[in-house]
Amino acid sequence: MSKIYITTAIPYINGVPHVGHAMDYCLADTYSRYHKMLGDEVRFQAGTDEHGNKIYKKALEEGIDTQAFVDRNSQVFRDFIKALNVEYTDFIRTTDEHHVKSCQEIWKKLESHIYSAKYEGWYCAGCENFVTEKEYEENHGVCPDHQKPYEKIAEENYYLRISDFKDQIKSAIEKDEMRILPDFRKNEVLKLLEDAPDVSISRPKSQVSWGIPVPDNEDQVMYVWLDALSNYITVLGYPDNDISEWWPASVQFVGKDILRFHTIIWPAILLGLGLPLPKVITSHGFIMANGQKMSKSVGNVVAPMEIIERHGVEAFRYFFLRHVDSFLDADFTWEKFEDAYNNELANDLGNLVQRLATMVRKNSVAPVENFVAQIPEEYKTFMDGFEFSKAFDFAWEKVQAINKRIDDEKPWMLAKAGETEKVNVCLTSLMKDLLSASNMLRPFLPETSTKIYDIFTNKNGVVPPETPLFPKN
Ligand code: MSP
Repeated sequence: MSKIYITTAIPYINGVPHVGHAMDYCLADTYSRYHKMLGDEVRFQAGTDEHGNKIYKKALEEGIDTQAFVDRNSQVFRDFIKALNVEYTDFIRTTDEHHVKSCQEIWKKLESHIYSAKYEGWYCAGCENFVTEKEYEENHGVCPDHQKPYEKIAEENYYLRISDFKDQIKSAIEKDEMRILPDFRKNEVLKLLEDAPDVSISRPKSQVSWGIPVPDNEDQVMYVWLDALSNYITVLGYPDNDISEWWPASVQFVGKDILRFHTIIWPAILLGLGLPLPKVITSHGFIMANGQKMSKSVGNVVAPMEIIERHGVEAFRYFFLRHVDSFLDADFTWEKFEDAYNNELANDLGNLVQRLATMVRKNSVAPVENFVAQIPEEYKTFMDGFEFSKAFDFAWEKVQAINKRIDDEKPWMLAKAGETEKVNVCLTSLMKDLLSASNMLRPFLPETSTKIYDIFTNKNGVVPPETPLFPKN
């Protein structure tokens, strides 16, 4: 049994959850459930990123106290994660007292790598990112993710000397000691790292008041990313506790837009603290609407709760885990979603369960006893490589193959011909195939998988579900 530590990006909570946020959770939950299925012990962190100007301004706009605002919104995200049927073990808020205190201790431990200097340049408030002149030019002064012009800022800040750690980070990435996925992002990160300047890690209090105070300097608050990234270890009790039982993380799930923070600033912080680097950082793409990133600031978001209310959480997980490649961008449209729901979930799987259970019942075939699923190597390879959408495809091909077998072997014809023994053998074998496929679906569709297991292994005989697993629209 191994110990697996899985982390997810902690979203800013200046707005409501959107489908993009769900990606980190659903991918991480799939990996977590897969490892639990293999008998491993899993720790799974989630949380909310609550400092910085975006949050402060939004609370002001709503006319409520900032703390009350983050208290309310953090709960909304917690409820959202629950609605996704995501089983995290630890939840952290960056306004938690322990986190705040720990970040200040982290700062002190990093002090020999920190210096103060003037920052004059560009900033994207949407990304909370200091933007280099080169990026500014490449993007013609407008953030491509937020469609907003970069702000010019000039301020006295503290800097973290990234140059102290560049060689070590580079070597860890090249040797896959800190593996970056997908592979094509690895070279992008190495290129970024080469040009990476030291990063500013504080902002003047006069500019950003809602943040963690820098120790021994009343005029500065910590840059929100230093505060946010530290969550992955403060949630484990760092620095008060020895975290070596769980750290380094087995895998950190992030979106492609924040990969750079996780592969440059984050490793620098860890190395500065004398901690090992995470084993894997995997990045997913963007959920798009009409070719543009779905984003609060752009205003083109689809409410995930609407999808869940209309079609259920299993359908939600189905679409975002199978039809969104685990590493690439994908477009969400209601049409695509409904096609997948009706043709695949309702037809391929829902009908199959109904059909097979009805035939088994009608022919009084015994349920499957003592079922032990074998996990195919091909599926395992995809899951171990974080290619969940491919593992899901593999499992779904098995579902389709069972439908084909039924059509080819026509058990009802055997029954009509009075071939009782053959009917028995055929239906039992089909049930076993379905249970094996359904076992592979367990990390993706936990409720459906349990239902299928309960139907076909029920000691009192197989009873077809009263209502279809996925009622058609
Ligand atoms: N607060 C930071 C993360 C700090 S982690 C130490 C942040 N928050 S966010 O709310 O902007 O994004 C949270 C996660 O949602 C990120 O992984 C991000 O990539 C993901 N997504 C936000 N919009 C997205 C899409 N439209 N599509 C897919 N995921 C995107 O960044």
